[in-house]
Amino acid sequence: MKRKSFFAMAIILVIALLSACGTGDEGSGDNQNADSGNGDQKEKLIIGTDAAFAPFEYLDKGKIVGFDVDFIDAVMAEAGYDYEIKNVGWDPLFPSVENGDVDFGLSAISITDERLETYDFSVPYFESRLLIMVPEGSDVQSATDLEGLLVGVQNGTTGQVAIEKVLGENNPNIKKYETTAVAIMAMKNGDVDAVVTDNTVAEEYVKNNPNDNFVTIGDPENFVPEYYGLMFKKGSELKAELDEAITKVLDSGKYEEIYQEWFGYEPDVEVLKEAAQQ
Ligand code: ARG
Repeated sequence: MKRKSFFAMAIILVIALLSACGTGDEGSGDNQNADSGNGDQKEKLIIGTDAAFAPFEYLDKGKIVGFDVDFIDAVMAEAGYDYEIKNVGWDPLFPSVENGDVDFGLSAISITDERLETYDFSVPYFESRLLIMVPEGSDVQSATDLEGLLVGVQNGTTGQVAIEKVLGENNPNIKKYETTAVAIMAMKNGDVDAVVTDNTVAEEYVKNNPNDNFVTIGDPENFVPEYYGLMFKKGSELKAELDEAITKVLDSGKYEEIYQEWFGYEPDVEVLKEAAQQ
């Protein structure tokens, strides 16, 4: 009797193990959306970023985090895509999007006429404006006051373009850095007198680093509103799909929730909607 029930138990165990293996295999196949060949599964998207632009995308204990990261997570959930964010860096991000190494760029990228010549952009998801960051006590009150001073910018950003318009394109006083974080470090070290970057980045830095004694200066005449968008290769079919998902995230209250979490105040969603019409 004892022996019999032992065998019965063993058989049940073997069956249980075999069926567990079966579901396990299916499970991992499902996770590999890209090559599962499963018709209703979407491919896994590769998203490129430059994770040195807090609070939008930055590294925290080796993990890419930030407003953009939470925002895209909501958009991808809405659109039903699995995804991976790759920290490719700012300058390499542009060719990576163009040659299809990544499916799109997510990097607080301002939609500009110049970029629209080469890339497609999603509907706007964030309003931004450039600011000047200077050490407290500096005489700088506008962009024109930067004449004769050393100005740090992240290479290839709207900050570089805007300050070149004021100080001249090949002005040797404009110092171009690989990341905005390094440009800010340069000011901390006294290598540059000012940094021109996106308002939210400058304001967050000033707030979180009170001992650096930096302040921000606006210049509405020289710095016009900018809007961030996802950057696609021209003609990408993803644009229409993700525009729809972004609009849903903007309309559902999810955007507001994420925005509140990061910035502590309400976003102006209407401004984004208006910008989308332009
Ligand atoms: N918004 C600015 C631009 O598009 C700066 C973006 C920099 N983003 C970054 N992740 N480094 O030029």
